[in-house]
Amino acid sequence: MRTARLAEIAKTVGTPCYVYDAVQIRDAYATLDRAFDGYPHAIHYALKANSSLAIVRLLQSCGAHGDANSLGEVEVALRCGFRPDQIVFTGVGKSAAEIDRAVSLGLLAINVESPGELDRIDQRAIAHNLRARVALRVNPDIDARSHPHISTGLKSNKFGVPIGEALGLFREMASRRGLLPVGAHVHIGSQITTLDPLQKAAESVVALAQALRGEGIALQHLDMGGGLGISYDGSPVADPAAYVRALVAATRGSGLKVAIEPGRVLVGPAGVLLTKVVDVKHFDGAKSFVVVDAGMTELMRPALYNAYHRIDPLLRRPGAETVVDIVGPICESTDAYARDRAFPPVEVDDVIVVRDVGAYGAAMGHTYLRRPLPPEVLIDGDQWRVIRRRQTLDELLSLEE
Ligand SMILES: Cc1ncc(COP(=O)(O)O)c(C=O)c1O
Repeated sequence: MRTARLAEIAKTVGTPCYVYDAVQIRDAYATLDRAFDGYPHAIHYALKANSSLAIVRLLQSCGAHGDANSLGEVEVALRCGFRPDQIVFTGVGKSAAEIDRAVSLGLLAINVESPGELDRIDQRAIAHNLRARVALRVNPDIDARSHPHISTGLKSNKFGVPIGEALGLFREMASRRGLLPVGAHVHIGSQITTLDPLQKAAESVVALAQALRGEGIALQHLDMGGGLGISYDGSPVADPAAYVRALVAATRGSGLKVAIEPGRVLVGPAGVLLTKVVDVKHFDGAKSFVVVDAGMTELMRPALYNAYHRIDPLLRRPGAETVVDIVGPICESTDAYARDRAFPPVEVDDVIVVRDVGAYGAAMGHTYLRRPLPPEVLIDGDQWRVIRRRQTLDELLSLEE
């Protein structure tokens, strides 16, 4: 993203403000899509990464299908043009209302998380006189070697059913009047930077599908989940095309269609957060702080996972770097974007760019301290437009007595 363009956006729209690059998102989608090289597949964009309507519509227009993690995301996917039979729905604690709506919509697959949920889906489907397409989410007990807060494929995690129970549960699903088992699903975590765990997880569901075939239960797809990581700090990560090729290599023998649910890799690198310096604090013998007008309300990742983001001033002033903490304005000590970071000199009102925030940035935003949600801007070639305007305080308070 060009500096002059970002400066213009910061001036026109104000800070804090998210900015995304449409071309980068289209390219990331095309890279994954091309790498399948004709093998039957569907790329279900994981809306949880960024469900702003314009971003979801953009990926829909690229040919993506949808992956929803709540009923709200199912409804967003429908509003953005996805057909129900293009949406997979995952969620470790689906409410009765979520199950009822998912069943009546006829989604491509409801990913089943437990024997109890299997029962509840069956009952709702029978009540609607339907057969719900279901996939079983298996937990293969594979270490994704990611941050513990975003690892989901170990038996100590709450997600899915142990893979050893899967055969029995598939038999059960196949015997139910309200259920049609169509797939197996695995998602072992997010921000996974090596292929090995993803490949092992894929192999485990392929082996399961083959065992099921031997029992006369023929699946239609294998949903390998999302999870491919991006480089936040410049260190090498697995190549997206190599990732797809590894999944296809694992699956080809089965002939089954591969579904994936990428989020971060599609939108993460395509977003920046523009924020402004509101204070610079330095006392001899103490830490130095650059205080900016965005905090954990706009971008949770550093506070939540101690996540690293590259941060630079939009315009570099002359002078040596010093070591500072770059912190937000929220009254929580965890509200820091970077600690002990070498940083060029900045002054109040300088614009700062926080990089790689297109995924799990705006989507995790919240309004603690009554801070209205920030605007989002989409750059597309020579044009840019506001895709979400800044929330007003009146809007934020409008639900209340
Ligand atoms: C079930 C499921 N699918 C897909 C994703 C997307 O993951 P990522 O953004 O790492 O590709 C997630 C996120 O953790 C998820 O929980």
